[in-house]
Amino acid sequence: MTDRYAVVGNPIGHSKSPQIHTSFATETGEDILYTALLFPLDGFEREARMFFSHGAGQGMNVTVPFKEQAWQLADSHTERAKRAGAVNTLKKLEDGTLLGDNTDGAGLVADLKRHSVVLQGRRILVLGAGGAVRGVLQPLMEEQPAELVIANRTVSKAEQLAEDFSDLGNISASTFADLQGTFDLIINGTSASLGGELPPLKDELITAETVTYDMMYGNDLTVFNRWAADRGVARTIDGLGMLVGQAAESFYLWRGKRPDVSGVIAMLRNDRRRC
Ligand code: ATR
Repeated sequence: MTDRYAVVGNPIGHSKSPQIHTSFATETGEDILYTALLFPLDGFEREARMFFSHGAGQGMNVTVPFKEQAWQLADSHTERAKRAGAVNTLKKLEDGTLLGDNTDGAGLVADLKRHSVVLQGRRILVLGAGGAVRGVLQPLMEEQPAELVIANRTVSKAEQLAEDFSDLGNISASTFADLQGTFDLIINGTSASLGGELPPLKDELITAETVTYDMMYGNDLTVFNRWAADRGVARTIDGLGMLVGQAAESFYLWRGKRPDVSGVIAMLRNDRRRC
C-alpha cells in the first residue's frame, strides 16, 4: 500500500504543500501520496486519529489553526518542537505512537545557508515575538550568532522569549525605538506585512551589507523588503525558500531522504509570475 501523507488545516485550499511534496517524491523516487485535507474546526483529534489508524497514513503537516492540538496529540516531541511550543509535523513511529516535530526553524536556517548568509558571529535582529518567531529561535541560536536581539511592539513578549532561550547564547529583547547599532541580518517575523504594514524601524539599523529576510512572501517585494531595498540594502530575501525548506525537513523526517529544494522553489516562483 502506498504510504499516505497530508497537510491538514482549516482553511487549506491554497496550500502549496501537496505540490511541493509530490515534486520531492518524484525527485527522490519515493512512492507516496500527499494530499491536502480540510479538517472541521471541532474535529482535529478525531480526524487525525482516523488518518493514522486506518489506511496508510504515515505523516502529517499541520497548519492553522491546529498546531496546538497537534502538540497535544503527539505522544512524544523533538527538542526543537518543545522549544517552539508547537508542532507542524507528525510522524507515525514503528510502534504506532506519534512523534511531534517542528521544522520551521530548520527550514529558515537552511534557506539562509542556501543564500550563503553567514550567521556565526553575526549581529541578528528578529522582528516580532509571536508563534512564528518562537518557532525559529532555537535553530538560529544553534548557528552561534554574536548577538540576537528580538524587537517587538509588545516588549514583554520579546522579553519572555529572550528569557526562554537565554541558555542558548547572547539573546536579548528591545522595543523598536531602543534598538542600537547596525545589524548584519534582520528577519521579519511579524504578521504586520499581511496587512501591508511595517514595524517602526529606524533607517540607522541597516547598512548596504545588511541582509533582510521576510518570513512572508509574495509576487512582489514585501513591504518590509521594499523598505530595506529603498534604503540601499542589496540582498533582500523572502520566505518562499523557508516554506520549501520546512517541507524538505518534514520529508527528511518521514522518508530519510533530503530532496533538492532549488527546482521546487523555481517552479513555485514561476507559477506565481504566471498568476
Ligand atoms: P504568528 O503566529 O504569525 O507569529 P502572532 O503570534 O499573532 O502570529 O504574532 C504576531 C506578531 O506580529 C507579534 O509579534 C505582533 O506584535 P505584538 O506582540 O505587539 O502584537 C506582530 N505584529 C502584528 N502586527 C504588527 C504591526 N502592525 N506592527 C508591528 N508588529 C506587529
